[in-house]
Amino acid sequence: MTTHHNDLKKIAIIGCGYVGTAASRYWCKEQGHSLTVTTTREERVKELQELATRVVVMKGADSQAVRSLLQNQDTIILSIAPISDRQVDAEVYRETYIPTVKNLVSALQNTPSVKQVIYLSSCSVYGNKKGEWIDETSPIDTDSEYNQVLSEVEHTLLNSTSEDIKACILRLGGIYGPERELTKRFKRIAGKTIPGSGNTFTSWIHLDDIVAALDFLCQRRLGGIYNLVNDFNMTIRELSDLVCDRANLDKVIWDDTKPSYRFLNARVSNQKIKASGYNLIHPKTII
Ligand SMILES: NC(=O)c1ccc[n+]([C@@H]2O[C@H](COP(=O)([O-])OP(=O)(O)OC[C@H]3O[C@@H](n4cnc5c(N)ncnc54)[C@H](OP(=O)(O)O)[C@@H]3O)[C@@H](O)[C@H]2O)c1
Repeated sequence: MTTHHNDLKKIAIIGCGYVGTAASRYWCKEQGHSLTVTTTREERVKELQELATRVVVMKGADSQAVRSLLQNQDTIILSIAPISDRQVDAEVYRETYIPTVKNLVSALQNTPSVKQVIYLSSCSVYGNKKGEWIDETSPIDTDSEYNQVLSEVEHTLLNSTSEDIKACILRLGGIYGPERELTKRFKRIAGKTIPGSGNTFTSWIHLDDIVAALDFLCQRRLGGIYNLVNDFNMTIRELSDLVCDRANLDKVIWDDTKPSYRFLNARVSNQKIKASGYNLIHPKTII
């Protein structure tokens, strides 16, 4: 795909982590767009300068920084996640997301250049739907404190929409891709006993599809809610068996006498984004 010179955009990515890095590399280095990306850590600046036009060290809670970040931008991608390699508590979740989205929405009022905001949310917001099929119109879970935070972010952004600013909520399945391979994830629990029956439905999405879908939504300036999950449509037990089998790993042992720690148990439909014209790159790729 070639981008015409006059299609070049100014895009800012708040939270340039695993997804932000891949998106910035694609947009900036392959498509020629102007990319401003953020990190909270000075030591990441050098690495990010290789794949973006401009790097800003900031936190979303800094309203002044958010306001100046938005200046002259066309599109904003919100891709923040609490900094940790482990599960963090709900309070940390809240402190990461809520001040950032509040500052973002208030800065948008004074930044007429911005035409679209895309927020990377999670399919975990649907919670336990007992394995039923759900789509973007299904109610979301407000029992878990984590989901309360994510749903507040979604609402705040959707309420900020107008004719001039489209708010797009992309609800992602579990992210996998280079360095975050399924094999690598299941290797950690292969042969081990994990709480829960394993019969809960999970959803997944490959990094390449997140980048391509972001580009698709950005080019069409779409607003509204979209699920982005691949076509696995499997329970966590089925998927773990498949992955462990292929990689010659011992199977995961599921202990149904203990409650599962998983929020999501639903078959998430990806029909809406497909019907709008997006074709998955990796509908069933296992790596
Ligand atoms: N991982 C999954 O399986 C999954 C599933 C569904 C949805 N999602 C969503 O997908 C998005 C991207 O995930 P990811 O895996 O790319 O995340 P990631 O690699 O953890 O990157 C998160 C980024 O957010 C930045 N950040 C953290 N706290 C911040 C704050 N208070 N203010 C500003 N920036 C802050 C981090 O800064 P540093 O550069 O300093 O680290 C980092 O650049 C997130 O919105 C996440 O909720 C993820």
